[in-house]
Amino acid sequence: MTSASLKRESASWSGLVFSLEAPILQGINVTFRGEPTAIIGQNGAGKTTFVKLLKALLKPSSGDIIINGKNIKNTTAAKIASTVGLVFQNPNDQIFKNNVLDEVLFGPLNIGQAPEVARANAEIMLDLVGLLDKAGENPYDLSLAERKMIAVASILAMDTDIVIFDEPTMGQDARGKKKLKEIIRELYAQGKLVLCILHDMDFVAETFGRTVIFSNGKLLYDGPTRQAFAGQAILDTARVEQPHLTQLACKMGYDGVLLKLEELIKR
Ligand SMILES: Nc1ncnc2c1ncn2[C@@H]1O[C@H](COP(=O)(O)OP(=O)(O)O)[C@@H](O)[C@H]1O
Ligand SMILES: [Mg+2]
Repeated sequence: MTSASLKRESASWSGLVFSLEAPILQGINVTFRGEPTAIIGQNGAGKTTFVKLLKALLKPSSGDIIINGKNIKNTTAAKIASTVGLVFQNPNDQIFKNNVLDEVLFGPLNIGQAPEVARANAEIMLDLVGLLDKAGENPYDLSLAERKMIAVASILAMDTDIVIFDEPTMGQDARGKKKLKEIIRELYAQGKLVLCILHDMDFVAETFGRTVIFSNGKLLYDGPTRQAFAGQAILDTARVEQPHLTQLACKMGYDGVLLKLEELIKR
């Protein structure tokens, strides 16, 4: 990887992270180069720990984390704030302002966007997530799903090369999920790297061509999403279920792993 080939360029990591007793992550060697990628695996598998490493919120006890050609293992989160955006799993851990617009403005201003640019970005992103009309409200007067969208808008407004979502579909209805899918496609179209931790396998199947599976702090699978849902042994180990549509198609007697409604209709 060279720093010349920015944007679609990548985050890669190999190494080991120790908790006091046992390593949380171990032997992970992975490179991301542009394709939106789903990160799945049961609770406690190490998914959040992994993305916190990419955001320099945690330091690896050994190994390297290379982002756009630079080793960030000794960098602070503040220094890579303009490169890596992470939407927290729980928006209440992220949101700290008592006004929606101020919240979304904080990140862009903090990384040095000019006030007019920051304001324009914040409004565009609030509009994108459907909350521009609530810009003047207190985030804590809004629903959890809306607060999640505020957290999304805050990160998007920073215009980082890498955008990571930690379980963004949790608590979202069908409309919210559709919006998230569109956002992920748009970020990809803009040349950004999108990584997304998910429990919703239907969303994974519809949205991501590549999937990585964590299990017990290890990388169990890295490859095409279709292949990820093809092997029952891996799914059992990771305690992950096939998408509903895949299960349905299988029950209907269709061969192969179907991921999308269009595929089922074609059959
Ligand atoms: N701050 C922490 N200190 C010690 N152990 C932690 C900490 N955060 C998470 N863990 C442990 O690390 C493992 C992975 O957690 P996590 O990355 O949150 O998993 P996931 O996001 O896949 O649910 C779990 O066993 C969890 O208990
Ligand atoms: Mg997690």
